[in-house]
Amino acid sequence: MSVLDSRPALKAAVWQVAETAGYLWTKGWAERNGGNITVNVTEYVDESMRALPAISEAIPIGVELPHLTACWFYCKGTQKRMRDLARDPMANGSIIRITDDCAHYEIVADALVMPTSELPSHLSVHDYLLAKGSPYRASLHTHPIELVALTHSKKYMEKDVATKLLWSMIPETKAFCPRGLGMVPYMLPSSVELAKATIEAIDDNYDVVMWEKHGVFAVDTDIMAAFDQVDVLNKAAQIYISARNMGFVPEGMTDAQMQEISDVFGLPK
Ligand code: 13P
Ligand code: ZN
Repeated sequence: MSVLDSRPALKAAVWQVAETAGYLWTKGWAERNGGNITVNVTEYVDESMRALPAISEAIPIGVELPHLTACWFYCKGTQKRMRDLARDPMANGSIIRITDDCAHYEIVADALVMPTSELPSHLSVHDYLLAKGSPYRASLHTHPIELVALTHSKKYMEKDVATKLLWSMIPETKAFCPRGLGMVPYMLPSSVELAKATIEAIDDNYDVVMWEKHGVFAVDTDIMAAFDQVDVLNKAAQIYISARNMGFVPEGMTDAQMQEISDVFGLPK
């Protein structure tokens, strides 16, 4: 028996995470337990699931998140591998519900899998998104090789230097990642400070945020859409690096060409 049985919409959302996890492994972005995913699945949780007993104690989140009361999330398990999650999402992740005090969570799932160590960042971002009335329900943290490499140069950590470079490599980048790439300086993984800085960057209108010398954090309507934004940005970084490896600095599209993309696609400012 699984909590996914007889709940096709919840099952589909969890299996979309599994499919995405497989892509992360194939891309080489998910060494060992690297990266994590959370999805707000509240809309797929029915009355009978709400009545299920928790299989864990109430565990403190570490922060109070007033907009998450009674919300439900699927979370990758801490220390679990994306490649294992791709095969068996309920043995390598779990579903949690936020308790009424909005400061704890309980696991309501098939097995006692503790959620990702980056839960403070993920849940703080979900709280922020709900407060804003955003339709975004998924957040992704992963370690894309070329994007992380860029953050080892102070030049690319400056606001929108990397955004402009990546947009200029291929028209699709601006079209499909129109808000660009936010930059957060190095902070301890899983810290509340990192969660706060991530929200500040998302509030600055970015859907994808770099954690210096670590990875990206991306949000979107569902997990596949969040993955797509990271994928187009990392592709642009690969094109830049390929040109440099051929011995030249790539020209990049001109400002006028990039403006034309914004106008034709009606992209946000
Ligand atoms: P978890 O295994 O706890 O999800 O951590 C992976 C990671 O990438 C931390 O930043
Ligand atoms: Zn990480």
